[in-house]
Amino acid sequence: TDLDNFITGLPKAELHLHIEGSLEPELMFALARRNDVAIPYASVEDVRAAYAFSNLQDFLDIYYAGADVLRTRADFHDLAAAYFDRAAADGVIHAEIMFDPQTHTDRGIPFAEVIEGLLSAMAEAEARHGISSSLILSFLRHLSEEAAFDTLTMAEPWLDRIAAVGLDSSELGHPPEKFARVFAAAAAKGLRLVAHAGEEGPPDYVVQALDLLKADRIDHGNRALEDMALVDRLVRSGMTLTVCPLSNLKLCVIDRIEEHPIDRMLALGLKATVNSDDPAYFGGYVADNYRAIAQARGLDKAALAQLARNSFTGAFLPEEVAQAHV
Ligand code: ADE
Ligand code: ZN
Repeated sequence: TDLDNFITGLPKAELHLHIEGSLEPELMFALARRNDVAIPYASVEDVRAAYAFSNLQDFLDIYYAGADVLRTRADFHDLAAAYFDRAAADGVIHAEIMFDPQTHTDRGIPFAEVIEGLLSAMAEAEARHGISSSLILSFLRHLSEEAAFDTLTMAEPWLDRIAAVGLDSSELGHPPEKFARVFAAAAAKGLRLVAHAGEEGPPDYVVQALDLLKADRIDHGNRALEDMALVDRLVRSGMTLTVCPLSNLKLCVIDRIEEHPIDRMLALGLKATVNSDDPAYFGGYVADNYRAIAQARGLDKAALAQLARNSFTGAFLPEEVAQAHV
């Protein structure tokens, strides 16, 4: 349809994408075979049937198990290359990609294998599709502060190739304050800062991400809507929220896509963006997310274009590059 073509043709930046969450069942089987790794599924259909989640933790258990097929530099390359092919088809021209090194280093996979595989696919994507990209090293918040510091140390040789650090995994019970010191250390190394906050966690976790982590961007942020003083603060500071509609639906942050607050966020003046989070697990890439909210909330082209503009103003791109797209 006309709106489909408009959405695909709209130049977009994707700011909230976990590369491990782009592992499609077909690639999971191919890598399991290539690496001789056993997986607890009989078929691709069997895998897809397992993707019924009632909350974030339900999903995370399956997502970390799925990542076990990723073993070599070639695997990380192929994973990211597949994402870039899909992103290019969706009109993504810039992507800031989160990766979870601890999911791999804790299984004995060297940090170098992970990041070099990703970097090679990023260079290819630039050459092949004209997509620019950067990396966000995400700390797993269910693990310790010390483990996060160790991960930051491991990343030292590649710091010039990493745009930011992030904070993901199980939110409830792991407040941002746990990582205040490692975020300060990352900032001192010149890295930008993002954190998942207010996906399942309370509005106070968003406040902590701002005050204690000094986050430049909030991933999700949905529950900030419960605190109007916080909303006001986010609006006045021009804080970008990386919102993920199909993720919110699949993880039961909302009960129905028709209840998604994306248009309410825009009406309040929040700098909301639309992203896919873990597209292989949540049933859609970035254009699918735009389409889902356009249909569910009746967004017009002006609102969709605003969301795409917000993705560039919220990106860690040089000012003049971002401005060229707004
Ligand atoms: N890791 C991958 N996707 C995530 C999400 N939506 N929230 C927290 N951690 C994640
Ligand atoms: Zn996420």
